[in-house]
Amino acid sequence: MQGIIFNLLEEIVTRDLGADTWDDLLDGAGLDGVYTAFVNYPDDQLLSLVSVAAGALDKPESDIIRWFGQNAIPLLAERYANFFTSCENTRAFLLSLNDIIHPEVRKLYPDADVPDFDYEASNPEFLILRYTSSRQICALAEGLIMGAGSYFDEKITLEHGTCVHKGGDTCEFKVTCN
Ligand code: HEM
Repeated sequence: MQGIIFNLLEEIVTRDLGADTWDDLLDGAGLDGVYTAFVNYPDDQLLSLVSVAAGALDKPESDIIRWFGQNAIPLLAERYANFFTSCENTRAFLLSLNDIIHPEVRKLYPDADVPDFDYEASNPEFLILRYTSSRQICALAEGLIMGAGSYFDEKITLEHGTCVHKGGDTCEFKVTCN
């Protein structure tokens, strides 16, 4: 996972829970906390930080990841404004994820290993996204989708149908935006 993802986590934890909490998470996970943009770090490090946070806050790991994703969106919107301002609403933003946003991310960060999304967009009432990734961090996708809804000031209903953690081949999200 790219260093910028760890930098975002550090920024959010420090802002909302304090610098001491970030240090505690690093200590608990046995990590030194030096994360540099453009460098890949083992995914296990992110998952260890999440696991220590889940234990400390007595919450499921998936809640921590969702919270991270949701809070990451406003920071991503500050840093990569074009991805957001070029879209009229959440639906258009989500539809740009696979063809524009993540391919552009790969140009900026050539070592990035971004997930793959495919869509079913025939019904204007809702959008189906299917998420495929060797990492299987569907809670992060959920948090990012909800964060995008907040960014565009829309009420999002997100139904997570099939899930790789429950025997599915892929994770399917039905997203309704109002
Ligand atoms: C709702 C919108 C988005 C969703 C659902 C989404 C989903 C994800 C997920 C689930 C991952 C984890 C990696 C994996 O599963 O393989 C990821 C990685 C990443 N995404 Fe997105 N993303 C979104 C928007 C963005 C935006 C706006 C950016 C802007 C820069 C971005 C940049 C990245 C980067 C840098 C990674 C790390 C890749 C790596 O470490 O190799 N994403 N994304």
